Amino acid sequence: MTQLLYAIPGSSLAQPPAPSSVASAAAPATQPGAARTVGEVLRESQVEAVLAELDADLVGLVPVKQRIRDIAALLVIDRLRLAHGLQPAAGKAAPSLHMCFTGNPGTGKTTVAMRMAQILHRLGYVRKGHLVAVTRDDLVGQYIGHTAPKTKEVLKKAMGGVLFVDEAYYLYRPENERDYGQEAIEILLQVMENQRDDLVVILAGYKDRMDTFFQSNPGMSSRIAHHIDFPDYAPAELATIAERMLHSMNYGFGPGAREAFDDYLSRRIRQPHFANARSVRNALDRARLRQASRLFADRDRELTAEDLSTIAPQDILASRVFTTTAAPAAPAAPAAAG
Ligand SMILES: Nc1ncnc2c1ncn2[C@@H]1O[C@H](COP(=O)(O)OP(=O)(O)OP(=O)(O)O)[C@@H](O)[C@H]1O
Ligand SMILES: [Mg+2]
Repeated sequence: MTQLLYAIPGSSLAQPPAPSSVASAAAPATQPGAARTVGEVLRESQVEAVLAELDADLVGLVPVKQRIRDIAALLVIDRLRLAHGLQPAAGKAAPSLHMCFTGNPGTGKTTVAMRMAQILHRLGYVRKGHLVAVTRDDLVGQYIGHTAPKTKEVLKKAMGGVLFVDEAYYLYRPENERDYGQEAIEILLQVMENQRDDLVVILAGYKDRMDTFFQSNPGMSSRIAHHIDFPDYAPAELATIAERMLHSMNYGFGPGAREAFDDYLSRRIRQPHFANARSVRNALDRARLRQASRLFADRDRELTAEDLSTIAPQDILASRVFTTTAAPAAPAAPAAAG
């Protein structure tokens, strides 16, 4: 499903934006102005604020944050070079900014891509700074003649921003000679080359599959300037992410609940379909459901703000992960374990 996501200035973590924040996403981008120092470019573009927010909002991801800073530094220096007339040779005016984000599910790829769109916008590399997230089904048709219009429609939506292609390797199906995915790849390649001053493409997915994809699609590989690998989160990072998520929803762990959640995580990580921060979010959603049922059962008690915002250990310990045996090879109920 095509998803239009906006990076919201001053907000955190991929909550669906309110319509009013859409307009503010289109904050003015810096034009190559009179800035002569790094500080001036940073101030004019307000990119420092996005970088600081990225640091503050996202737990862990140290190597990813460093790479984003490096890319931002490159773009800022580019800006200053331009002011000195040091632009690259004609025809190479816009630097290639297409990227590849690899990592397991729930490691923050979409979230970081939204921040990246914001940075590119503030530095004037894209006009609008929105992010259009798609998968194969949004680009590739079922019948002959359907793929080109589909892909072009998506590209039209993404122009001036970032096109985020999740699990990009599904575009390429070597086992099917007539696969329409190839057509979508070819259109993408053209636009990535010819319109790179107005569209940045970020491909995302598992590292090993992406590597195989690039081996079979050298044209794609050569157009990707930056490869960023998203590591799995350590258990302590996941627990911190959980606390932040709860806090942002006006909930918190009550006495003993954080320990219960640590225990939960240590079991859940070993189960199939574990998806890092995404699994944390899902686990918290279920804990909130159980908390609600627990409070609901108590018809006559006056509920305080604290009651209503506290996740108790039993809201976590009732999870299935505490009852299913940790038999590694036999996933009884996949997908939504927990
Ligand atoms: N470092 C982090 N700190 C806080 N929250 C995070 C962090 N990383 C991810 N999240 C949250 O976890 C959820 C999943 O993240 P996101 O969708 O960015 O991951 P993803 O790598 O794109 O996953 P998928 O491959 O499943 O699409 C989001 O709700 C996001 O806000
Ligand atoms: Mg994602």
